[in-house]
Amino acid sequence: MRALILRSAQGLDGARLEEVPATTPVEGEVCVALKAAALNHRELWIARGQYPGMTLPAILGADGAGVIAAVGPGVDPGRVGEAVLLYPGLRWGADPAYPAATFGLLGMPGPGTIAQSVCVPADIAVPLPPHLDFAQAAALPLAGLTAWRGLVTKAGLRAGEKLLVTGVGGGVATFALLFGVAMGAEVFVTSGSDATLEKATALGARAGFNYRHENWRKALAKQSGGIDVVFDGAPAASYPQYARALAMGARVVLYGSTGGTDFSVNAPELFLKNLRLIGTNVGNPAEFAAMVAFVAQRGLKPAIDCRFPLSAAVEALAHLERGHGFGKIIIDIEGT
Ligand SMILES: NC(=O)c1ccc[n+]([C@@H]2O[C@H](COP(=O)([O-])OP(=O)(O)OC[C@H]3O[C@@H](n4cnc5c(N)ncnc54)[C@H](OP(=O)(O)O)[C@@H]3O)[C@@H](O)[C@H]2O)c1
Repeated sequence: MRALILRSAQGLDGARLEEVPATTPVEGEVCVALKAAALNHRELWIARGQYPGMTLPAILGADGAGVIAAVGPGVDPGRVGEAVLLYPGLRWGADPAYPAATFGLLGMPGPGTIAQSVCVPADIAVPLPPHLDFAQAAALPLAGLTAWRGLVTKAGLRAGEKLLVTGVGGGVATFALLFGVAMGAEVFVTSGSDATLEKATALGARAGFNYRHENWRKALAKQSGGIDVVFDGAPAASYPQYARALAMGARVVLYGSTGGTDFSVNAPELFLKNLRLIGTNVGNPAEFAAMVAFVAQRGLKPAIDCRFPLSAAVEALAHLERGHGFGKIIIDIEGT
């Protein structure tokens, strides 16, 4: 089968499409003939050797959707032909609050989805929501789950609250906008692109601020009247700007470190306002099931930035690296 392999962590130069042996499902596994995969920023971290627990070579890709082509011993053969999307993790463990030390994602250390097929534990292949096609379903797993856990489990976002989503063009952030609007929050967004801000307001954002303009700190405080929940993947650049706009008891959920790892916090501001800074990491299988059910029940459709055939997977990564699209980058697997 053809797959996107990273052999050395030297940036995108270390990634190429190769012919590799297809695996067969062992006990408890299904083999999924993939129809679509999606990119995440983590592929870029991995390609640069900046991801924890690097083990190469690796087939890249944590997000995938397709059809079960074969099952291993112990799995219902009636599942062959089922359309599925994949929970992106392996071995979450017993505690729903945190992943176990053995937890890993598909696409390093687990098998990757930017390939013609992948064998995974049967219980992480879940039925496709009927209103989604394979590309839309492939867009959902890692980014949708991260946004869901951050907003629902970690922040406890309620209808009517004011939510700030930073860098709204990003894969995870577009889901935070989609879910926040669907949950009845009043959503404020930032982006480095005015075109992205326009798309976000068309999807229901109340107001958008270009983080390249220095005055966004004051404009956010004035227009929002106080933010209740922040969902932030770039806190080094963003936190100093929105801190003053946080309402009493605001919950600030941090899920990424795009643009820098360190930032400072004003301690009196934190304790006098009873703020909570909360980290979040991916999500457990029950949260994934709840997120997929919510998407199905509300008929939500992920934002897709653009699509590339498998043969152009390295160009797709370069497109992700250039930034400022809106939503997920899809790799169409079939017919390439
Ligand atoms: N904790 C977890 O479980 C988890 C899961 C998935 C991802 N992540 C992390 O979350 C981050 C985003 O991942 P992704 O896959 O969504 O990446 P992505 O699609 O590449 O999006 C990154 C976005 O960051 C925004 N950005 C860049 N500079 C910024 C700045 N100075 N201020 C605010 N926003 C800025 C940009 O938004 P605009 O285009 O709108 O400017 C860009 O689209 C990465 O650091 C990733 O490693 C964490």
